[in-house]
Amino acid sequence: MSELAVYGGPKTIQPGEVKPWPPIDKSDEEMVLDALYSPVQTRGKHSIEFEKEFAAWNGNQYAVFTNSGTAALHMGIAGCGVGAGDHVLVTAYTWSSSATCILHHDAIPIFVDIDFDTFLMDPAKIEAAITPRTKAIVVVHLHGLCVDMDAVMDIAKRHNLRVIEDACQAHGATFKGRKAGSMGHCAAFSLNQNKCLCSGEGGIFVTNDEAIYRNACKLWSFGETARPEESRDFHAYALGWMYRNNELTAALARSQFRKYGYYFDNLRANGEHLLANLGGIKGLLLPQVPADCVHNWYNFNLRIDFDALGMGGDVAAKVRFRDAVCKAIAAEGVAVSVWQRFILPEMTVFRAKNAYGGGYPWSIPGADDGVTYNPEDYPNALRYSRCHMSIVQTLRAPNGLDIAQKVVEAVRKVFANIGRIEPDRILG
Ligand SMILES: Cc1ncc(COP(=O)(O)O)c(C=O)c1O
Repeated sequence: MSELAVYGGPKTIQPGEVKPWPPIDKSDEEMVLDALYSPVQTRGKHSIEFEKEFAAWNGNQYAVFTNSGTAALHMGIAGCGVGAGDHVLVTAYTWSSSATCILHHDAIPIFVDIDFDTFLMDPAKIEAAITPRTKAIVVVHLHGLCVDMDAVMDIAKRHNLRVIEDACQAHGATFKGRKAGSMGHCAAFSLNQNKCLCSGEGGIFVTNDEAIYRNACKLWSFGETARPEESRDFHAYALGWMYRNNELTAALARSQFRKYGYYFDNLRANGEHLLANLGGIKGLLLPQVPADCVHNWYNFNLRIDFDALGMGGDVAAKVRFRDAVCKAIAAEGVAVSVWQRFILPEMTVFRAKNAYGGGYPWSIPGADDGVTYNPEDYPNALRYSRCHMSIVQTLRAPNGLDIAQKVVEAVRKVFANIGRIEPDRILG
């Protein structure tokens, strides 16, 4: 086997071989030009049709096009009637805004540890985190794999909690045949650059509940009750933000969405190829997909099995080793990186309780009772954050099985040379 690329050997994948995401063609150009030359640049036909098309595809009654997934998450918190000082449960390992959306609404995030194998909120740990102030749960279908929604909805029903699905990474993923974003009380999708459906930036809020929809819409557009395309009285009935998006972005979202079936199937095939061909490698743990789930492979995760490699308890050394392996795979030409280096309870905004300054919203009387953010209370999330690396865009269309096979070869090459990974030499 040839020398590792990180040490000067040949790359497995040559520069330019992996095509960029998202693929753009004439149909995108035509749709965006149609929007560009339209006299209506906001809340025109592209925004409105996109909402209808997405809602029909995902099985939701209502969809609202937003300027980010975070905006859609915040709409979910507001839509569900979460109030100042309420507690909202959220997974300890996710994107920051799965939890900061709770702070945006003056509520208090309470973290729940993950299952190490699925890296999703562990439903068995939810009930212990519920307090008398708990109003809702934000479940995150992380990396395109759905949480066990039967378990979550059962707990929510028994404790009278609302469930907001963070489906920002989970377009098309399913649990028992039900689509992400159709199982809780409402959900948020993202359309940013990395997402399986990309319009540059953007998001979608979905629900089947009319009251949640109406509350969320007030937050979306200046606290108004009329939509901007309707006759408005320009009255702020509640505190609102400006979370709307525009026609050019909607046009790109629509044209990309028409190709989503192909994108989804392509990504599924690439993810399954990696899963089938990366087995049996010493020191490498592969993603676990429960039988009830169809993964969309938004993010294909590799985890280093330090025990199998005989590496002891020095956390800093393990993290440096993981970073060096990641750099070695990247040098082979695979866009691999560490997705989230920190779990949320490690992040300063929570630990320092510094969200709005002066300790707010934790300073709301009674809100802070017993709330601590000690990272060691989330051992699975910590373990995961220290051993994983993520492959995102390399597996997206138009890159097919030929590239997926080269990813397999690159990963196999690095792990075949795992004894030669020297963090000091690779990382400096
Ligand atoms: C799990 C998750 N939640 C929320 C978000 C926020 O989405 P956006 O960047 O569109 O605000 C992202 C993406 O960045 C995400 O991956």
